[in-house]
Amino acid sequence: MSYEERVAEFKARVDAGEKIEAGEWMPDEYRASLLKFIEMHANSEVMGCLPEREWIPRAPTLKRKLSLTAKVQDEAGHAQILYRVAEDLGKSRDHMWDDLVNGRTKFHNVFHYPTESWGDVAVIGWLIDGAALVTQKALLDCSYLPYVRAMRRICPEESVHLRHGEELTLELVSGTPEQREMFQDAVNRWWRPIMHFFGPPSKPEKDVLLYWGIKTRSNEDLRQEFFSTYVPKLWDLGISVPDPDLAWNEEKGEWDWGDPGWDEFWEVVKGNGPRTKDRLSRRKQIWDHHAWVREVFNGIPRAA
Ligand SMILES: [Fe+2]
Ligand SMILES: [Fe+2]
Repeated sequence: MSYEERVAEFKARVDAGEKIEAGEWMPDEYRASLLKFIEMHANSEVMGCLPEREWIPRAPTLKRKLSLTAKVQDEAGHAQILYRVAEDLGKSRDHMWDDLVNGRTKFHNVFHYPTESWGDVAVIGWLIDGAALVTQKALLDCSYLPYVRAMRRICPEESVHLRHGEELTLELVSGTPEQREMFQDAVNRWWRPIMHFFGPPSKPEKDVLLYWGIKTRSNEDLRQEFFSTYVPKLWDLGISVPDPDLAWNEEKGEWDWGDPGWDEFWEVVKGNGPRTKDRLSRRKQIWDHHAWVREVFNGIPRAA
């Protein structure tokens, strides 16, 4: 069988809803797209620890400190699971880590921004984990079975993060005027990065990830689900969204929304976000500092 015939047969299996196992033959484009996607997901989980971790020492109560610490630990665990899935596709964990800390691979735009108040912790826990859960639930139907298994482990934990964020939100919006204002201010600052999180409207027929069944839903489809789930809840709480065009369009049966502008998005994904350099250098510092642990586990004798 020629390479083209094998690719066509593989594509037919994916289109029929069959799942691909680790170690099976796969077209080069499938392997490369899948690896890049899972690696970025893993990078995002581990980089997502940093903005929230900054608030652990400043958590207002012991209960909040414990729940935030547990959430950050979960995110680090998600990264471990996902790097393991990515490793099977042919890139070592060391190589992926080296590429991340040296800025050669990407992580999600939302983790390039500063966290300025406790309101940001509520927005991240509720709306950003909410946005992530919308996209991650869609991956439960991915064509690559090891990734599906990873998502089956990860999604229930993300649901707990959502409850943690929702509880923080309810506490702030039912608190003092200053607490409400703190939350509203955080929503105002994070709304645009959240819109960017779903990516620009794209042509589904040109999306290689949809073609191979790695993703099963388009950027716009996921953004619409996010609106339907969270915007009515925000409005119920008396929190406004900084997009005057956002409204349910009865005729189209979908949400209209205002173009947030994409220049900032492209700058951030290129690695020029407001906190990109600090966060990567922090990760690199931790990596270098813990080199001796890896050496011990790998059985490399330490220099005297
Ligand atoms: Fe996570
Ligand atoms: Fe999470």
